[in-house]
Amino acid sequence: MNSLDESFRPSCAVSKKPKYSRFTQQDLPACKPILTPGTVIAILLCIAVVFIPVGLSSLSASKNVVEIVHRYDDACLPGELSDDERVEFIQDAKTNKTCTRTFTVPKEMKQPIFVYYHLDNFYQNHRRYVKSRNDHQLSSPKNEFRTKSCEPEALDDNNKPIVPCGLIAWSLFNDTFNFVRSSSPLPVNKKDISWRSDRKNKFGSDVYPKNFQKSGFIGGAKLNDTMPLSEQEDLIIWMRTAALPSFRKLYGKIEADLQADEKITVVIQNNYNTYSFNGKKKLVISTVTWIGGKNDFLGKTYLSVGGTSLFVAVSFGVLYLIRPRPLGDSAYLSWNRYPNLDSFD
Ligand SMILES: *[C@@H]1O[C@H](CO)[C@@H](O)[C@H](O)[C@H]1NC(C)=O
Repeated sequence: MNSLDESFRPSCAVSKKPKYSRFTQQDLPACKPILTPGTVIAILLCIAVVFIPVGLSSLSASKNVVEIVHRYDDACLPGELSDDERVEFIQDAKTNKTCTRTFTVPKEMKQPIFVYYHLDNFYQNHRRYVKSRNDHQLSSPKNEFRTKSCEPEALDDNNKPIVPCGLIAWSLFNDTFNFVRSSSPLPVNKKDISWRSDRKNKFGSDVYPKNFQKSGFIGGAKLNDTMPLSEQEDLIIWMRTAALPSFRKLYGKIEADLQADEKITVVIQNNYNTYSFNGKKKLVISTVTWIGGKNDFLGKTYLSVGGTSLFVAVSFGVLYLIRPRPLGDSAYLSWNRYPNLDSFD
């Protein structure tokens, strides 16, 4: 900038021109990979080599899971009932709701065998339902009266606080399952089925249920008033609300091997009302492997990513062999291919 320039410029103006530096000139050392056909094909092949075996092994692990899914909400009704009659049946405290189902084990099942209940069309993710709880109240007996977020299940008929308050606890699932194998009971272990962090930190070992499910409309299971919340694992599992309307929750573990073709009888207490909203109830019995329960999605996803990479790598390779081009040939640039056109607009 010379002194002549200076004299033409109003004194307040500031130069917009950036200072010269390698940063402003975009001249810093950088990784500028050249994607030659060789490197592209090699990268794609590497992806395929990693993803395809992972996909195959998780798919085969999923295939080895033995899973029995048994829908019982319709089978546990006395005959063909209309929708209204179903609701009437389940709401009547005097009807017999015991229901015996038998199924055959298709393949040998090694312990531990996980027992779940599966609900369909149950929106545990509804905004007002999810918020209808009070975590302070669950964790400490001092917070018994903190029931603000729990409406309409905050106070009982005598205006005493309900512990645990809120709709989630109120609607606790209350079907029970008792397994019998060749006329001797098959015990289900219901200990240590919830998250340890929930038992330790979220649900107090000195918080006991109070006024719970005692008055008003009964929404679900009752709780043992002499057992602290940290040991009520069915409640702890139920209160970890499901994100999707179709979900399963752990009921317990069977710690015995089941043989192929064995007949297992399960005596169900069909208490929970899913009939008024057309929900389905299923009992799921499943073994696990290193990927968890039956889930083909993971394996299929790995296989499709790996397969696509392999396919693209092979097609690039074939193209490269049939019609190779020199690298960085400027003859292929559009302004060289159509030299007579000034622009494309
Ligand atoms: C089970 O829950 C239903 C509501 O879904 C309720 O009407 C019924 O009284 C409960 N039964 C028992 C035995 O807890």
